[in-house]
Amino acid sequence: MKGPCPHDLCDGSGFVIDDETNTARPCRCRAQRIGRARASTLAGVIPKRFRGVGFDRSPVTEIDPIVVREVRRYVEDIDAQLDAGRGLWFMGDVGTGKTTLAMIAARAALDAGRSVAIYSLPRLLAQIRTTFDDGSADSYVTLLDRLQSVDLLHVDDVGAEKTSPWVLEQLYSIVNSRYEDRRAIVITTNLDHEELCEQIGGRTVSRLVEMCGDPLPLFGRDRRMDLRSA
Ligand SMILES: Nc1ncnc2c1ncn2[C@@H]1O[C@H](COP(=O)(O)OP(=O)(O)OP(=O)(O)O)[C@@H](O)[C@H]1O
Ligand SMILES: [Mg+2]
Repeated sequence: MKGPCPHDLCDGSGFVIDDETNTARPCRCRAQRIGRARASTLAGVIPKRFRGVGFDRSPVTEIDPIVVREVRRYVEDIDAQLDAGRGLWFMGDVGTGKTTLAMIAARAALDAGRSVAIYSLPRLLAQIRTTFDDGSADSYVTLLDRLQSVDLLHVDDVGAEKTSPWVLEQLYSIVNSRYEDRRAIVITTNLDHEELCEQIGGRTVSRLVEMCGDPLPLFGRDRRMDLRSA
């Protein structure tokens, strides 16, 4: 990670130099710099459709204000939330703004200089599978390691499709490591608790519940339909 120190303590190198003793000590931003560098091969870019999202404009101004308020609280305190490993969980109907709000959280983390990975669950699992099938133990372990160590992992569309027990075990292992290390996850899903347990397993869901708190509910009609008719 290059660029200025977010805490204004070092010259951007990740080390604070003490001129008197001519020694260097790691800066507060160093751990973040290392995290960002390690995450650089993950999908950490806000997709084009969501790049302009903000609290002051549509569609966020049209989403349930109670849910939006929770997201605003979260992003206003993003560093502390991430440091505590607290995430968010959006649950509800198709086309109601779940991914939109999750992207606001991801963007806030990126703006705060934190490392972020953004995946839909089907894509994430496919990537794990492909990396494993490639036969290179190195790249497989590296991928899992990076998914486990990034400051915020945003997993979209959790439970969107059925997958194999092997793949679900990989998902469990990522979620469990993040749980143990107190690293935040943001998820979106169309499924309720019971359906989710059936789809990705109770042990994984149980950890997500503790890490992400109560699901923020977004129900109602599919807004994509409105956009189409407009
Ligand atoms: N409350 C809303 N008012 C107006 N437009 C909205 C609202 N919620 C979402 N939209 C628009 O609808 C589209 C779908 O939003 P988004 O992708 O966030 O939905 P989602 O809940 O993640 O859907 P899915 O469950 O299918 O993934 C976007 O174009 C978004 O701008
Ligand atoms: Mg979505």
